[in-house]
Amino acid sequence: MLLTSEQLGRFREDGFLVLPGLFGAEEVAALRAELPALFAEDTPANFREKRSGVVRTAMGLHLRNPVYARLVRHPRLVEPAMQMLADDRLYVQQAKVNAKEAFTGEVWQWHYDFATHHHEDGVPAPLALNLHVFLDDVGEFNGPLWFIRGSHRDGPAPTALDTATTSYPLWTVAEDVVARLVGLGGIVSAKGPAGTGLIFGDSLVHGSPPNMSPFPRRIFSLILNPVSNALTRHRRPDHQHHRDLTPVVPLGDDCLRSAMRAAG
Ligand code: SIN
Ligand code: MN
Repeated sequence: MLLTSEQLGRFREDGFLVLPGLFGAEEVAALRAELPALFAEDTPANFREKRSGVVRTAMGLHLRNPVYARLVRHPRLVEPAMQMLADDRLYVQQAKVNAKEAFTGEVWQWHYDFATHHHEDGVPAPLALNLHVFLDDVGEFNGPLWFIRGSHRDGPAPTALDTATTSYPLWTVAEDVVARLVGLGGIVSAKGPAGTGLIFGDSLVHGSPPNMSPFPRRIFSLILNPVSNALTRHRRPDHQHHRDLTPVVPLGDDCLRSAMRAAG
């Protein structure tokens, strides 16, 4: 699947791109069906909320589950990433579901992903793409991602490590910097029904508010990075930044549906 030049232009301008209806209802149902068992596993790859102890992020999913092993090779994710980066040698840096659960899902502070990729993992340049698939309807009330439109254009903003306020250590962007960037580009919240796709770049500033609603908000997130821009430091565990730099090869467009047929 290839993006149009209009979509590529919008991504360059805004730093993110929404792809409505990228996955169908049956495909989303198949992905969702795997989550209870994955979230029930007692593993360091499942990060929990500070207060409630429910799963906040479940990582390393393509190594833990056959359906997610197919999803990280799905052509509707991998081919646009190859096209945007003009590079067909991309490795799976991270594959996770961020589960902002009903009532208990906590905040993600303002940050951009390259700060962590660079400081923790020694990734040289902000090239990685974060490809999302909404596994629930994401609306105003269940903690959608907020983007500062165009905040990547200035180059990566200054950051500091926050280990105190959330259960996941994050290199965050200071409030005065956020205020300046919001003054330039405004805040956009990424909403849409389950199956919506979303792509954003490594230096786009984003965050998300807590989920006070009774509606869960689970989002699949795949980070693909060029092999030529791989990590140079191995401080974090494999599930946070995978060491396997084998380039992903896209499967057929029906790879999730054929997995469902095989499962009966
Ligand atoms: C992230 O920034 O990686 C997570 C944000 C979210 O899931 O709300
Ligand atoms: Mn992020």
